[in-house]
Amino acid sequence: MSKSTGCCRDFLHYVFDYETPKTLVIPSIRVGFVFRFTQLLVVLYTVGYVCVVQKAYQETDSVVSTVTTKVKGFAFTNISDMEPRFWDVADYIIPPQGDHSFFVLTNLVMTPGQTQSRCAELPNPSTTCVDDCDCVEGYDDPRGNGIRTGLCENYSSTVKTCEVLSWCPLEIDANLPKRPLLAAAENFTVLIKNSITYPKFNFHKRNILPHINSSYLKTCEYSRKTDPDCPIFRLRHILAEAGEDFQDMAVKGGVLGILIDWSCDLDWWPGKCRPKYTFRRLDDKHPDNNVAPGYNFRFAKYYKTPEGEETRTLIKAYGIRFDVIVFGTAGKFGIVPTIVNLGAALSFLSLVPMVADWFMLTCMKKRDLYSRQKVTYLVEEPQTESASMSTTYGTQ
Ligand SMILES: *[C@@H]1O[C@H](CO)[C@@H](O)[C@H](O)[C@H]1NC(C)=O
Repeated sequence: MSKSTGCCRDFLHYVFDYETPKTLVIPSIRVGFVFRFTQLLVVLYTVGYVCVVQKAYQETDSVVSTVTTKVKGFAFTNISDMEPRFWDVADYIIPPQGDHSFFVLTNLVMTPGQTQSRCAELPNPSTTCVDDCDCVEGYDDPRGNGIRTGLCENYSSTVKTCEVLSWCPLEIDANLPKRPLLAAAENFTVLIKNSITYPKFNFHKRNILPHINSSYLKTCEYSRKTDPDCPIFRLRHILAEAGEDFQDMAVKGGVLGILIDWSCDLDWWPGKCRPKYTFRRLDDKHPDNNVAPGYNFRFAKYYKTPEGEETRTLIKAYGIRFDVIVFGTAGKFGIVPTIVNLGAALSFLSLVPMVADWFMLTCMKKRDLYSRQKVTYLVEEPQTESASMSTTYGTQ
């Protein structure tokens, strides 16, 4: 027999030998148990995890939402360096229109009566001077308060600083009250109106639930335990839920998140789809280096004196910004995800015989017998030379 015909025959065997499964019955409790147990695991995975936990039979959609807010409350302040003053919403909510983010003023530095004029800079190492030669005319330091006039003036009886052209008198923001000026803000309330829709399922809802009537809305107040459906929140309560002390946070300000979770299973009664509120502080409460904590900004109110001089009141505002963040996904039965996910999960069933085979061929005492029986190469009974030639690829 030559080498080339042997090689050719191997190739023919490889291509044309037809393998067909033969049923081999193993009468063994242990192998049978491994097989059924593995099957059970696959079925449990499909039912328990894929269907119940993951709800893979559902189509999902993300929430689309809009928020409006309205704060209510009054405060009265009477401190030494400011005239007694009454505050209402138009004074302490900036800007006045409440959307998904609103700011409540809690502390401030007010500098009234500023006019465009000249005054001595606030003293610090780069602004103090001995005489006019130390002050360069026209020099403007972005961290300073104005454009230098070139003169050296008395800031106080002991300190001389360069004079600047600016809004004078200058703001002295070291005067920030150590107790929040609007401490009463802790008792202010905010009404949050939130309408959501899941466009794919044409589902609409708002956080003022259908069973709420206007007399209830006039008196209710949100509390996670006793009144979780009321859309009116007391600011102190919001901060307490976030683990913050209002009076503490109100001094330097900060950012607080109101999170509304609208995750819903729409296969159930839609009335079960309700908002869940959680609260957390979003800015860093204690920056590691304690530099630039809190939240503040400046704004001014302009007016003209009877003499016609333009004048402004500058306010450096510290306060708490509330960000309303709405999120959620809804799921509803869909035939396509059901088929796809069920098919994918059940295809694991085809791996079960492999596990049982592996167990049978490696862990059983009779594994040699099993492996001999597992694959049978069909050897035909001896026949005449001519018949054999035509059905197999050649004879020895
Ligand atoms: C807020 O209201 C509570 C109870 O009504 C009161 O005890 C508390 O003093 C009020 N807070 C301020 C800062 O006025």
